[in-house]
Amino acid sequence: MSKFVKISNKITKFNKKLSIDGDKSLSIRWALLSSQSLKKSTASNLLLSEDVMSTLKCLKKLGIKIKISRNFCEIIGLGLNGFKYKNNLILNAGNSGTLGRLLLGLLVHSKKKLLLKGDRSLSKRDFLRVIKPLEKFGAIFDSNYGKLPIKIHGTNNTKPIKYFENKGSAQCKSAVMFAALNTLGETTIKAKKSRDHSELLFKSLKLPIKVIKRKNHDIIKVKGKSKIPALNYKIPSDISSAAFFIVLAALTKNSRLEIKNVNINPSRMGVFYILKLMGVRIVKLNVRNYKGEKIADLIIKGTNNIKPINCPIKFNSSAIDEFLLIFLVAAKAKGVSYFKNLSELDQKESPRLKWGSKILNKIGIKNILTENSIKIFGNPDLKVNKKIIIKGFLKDHRVFMTSVIAALSFGGKWQIFDKESINTSFPSFLKKVDYLGAKID
Ligand code: S3P
Repeated sequence: MSKFVKISNKITKFNKKLSIDGDKSLSIRWALLSSQSLKKSTASNLLLSEDVMSTLKCLKKLGIKIKISRNFCEIIGLGLNGFKYKNNLILNAGNSGTLGRLLLGLLVHSKKKLLLKGDRSLSKRDFLRVIKPLEKFGAIFDSNYGKLPIKIHGTNNTKPIKYFENKGSAQCKSAVMFAALNTLGETTIKAKKSRDHSELLFKSLKLPIKVIKRKNHDIIKVKGKSKIPALNYKIPSDISSAAFFIVLAALTKNSRLEIKNVNINPSRMGVFYILKLMGVRIVKLNVRNYKGEKIADLIIKGTNNIKPINCPIKFNSSAIDEFLLIFLVAAKAKGVSYFKNLSELDQKESPRLKWGSKILNKIGIKNILTENSIKIFGNPDLKVNKKIIIKGFLKDHRVFMTSVIAALSFGGKWQIFDKESINTSFPSFLKKVDYLGAKID
């Protein structure tokens, strides 16, 4: 199978309904939390992607019983601190920062030694951000300056901690919450706003958690050592995967797209609000509540009238995975857009702020990049005719998929490498592109 796709034609207008794969953050959290219950937990519409499969593989190695049939999954956990495995077990988090960091939280009490490793992209990412707070529980982590592989020496004498999470990282916050589950006493986290799926799952399980919401941060208190009930869950569609098609529809004049059953948790909705400010016609319908998560159907209509934006930093965390796509929309705006305080973007699977700038350079859109910001000089008449090759990034699904959306929206003759990267988060991405009528080789 070839490792790249070739795209030589823009997509023509479409009017379609689309379903999107299950949410990745929720799929991984469901599996990890279920492993801590003694009961049988079930999930339907689990995302069947490599990141989720890596999660299930790690849990199996830790002695957890898992049955999976299509996207329905059953987990029978071993209870708190119940993992069963041989000394010096090696766990592989693959490409997934969420898995690697949250799993470390569950391992602060491990009785035997373990080693956590990951792929080339994950091995370049910062784990000191979770090692530092997790060491406060009493565990010891040997790493190469905070990078994978990491040796884990758990402690059976954990003590609750106080932790200030100041990056707006849901992974750091959740890793500490997971460690707190296993720790007698109350752990207190002051956390900059970030996605709150872990808090909502804890609440839906009626675990002893208190969340006090302040303007810029939340105070989260978790009391450990209470029994975890079964977690039966229907995973809604992932807004971060839906975003690729939201942007494709928005940039394709006279198109209309309906996406059902999308998780519209406010802590993930930055992309929605930013696109609306830029003039994208997007509405949510049938808003409903599911175990604390908000779900809705979305309707998006194509437009030719994109406005530039001075993007409010309050949306940074809730749009963190969608900025590459938002930059494409800014490329079509009538005027200059400005995005700032985005250093966290370069902490992802590849340095995404730099990749955003590279893709814009390739399509001929002037942009000024600094260490943590980008100014984009939009052109509403943007048409690309040249040959463009996208190659050489660390395995990063979002760089690949954003490049496909750019090719289909702006034209040009594209060759985009690392097709397999979609398997980490959105394996059916290219099938959906095909269903909307795009021609891809
Ligand atoms: C995630 C949190 C975010 C996000 C990632 C998934 C999660 O990372 O970028 O794709 O599931 O908690 P950070 O916590 O590093 O911001």
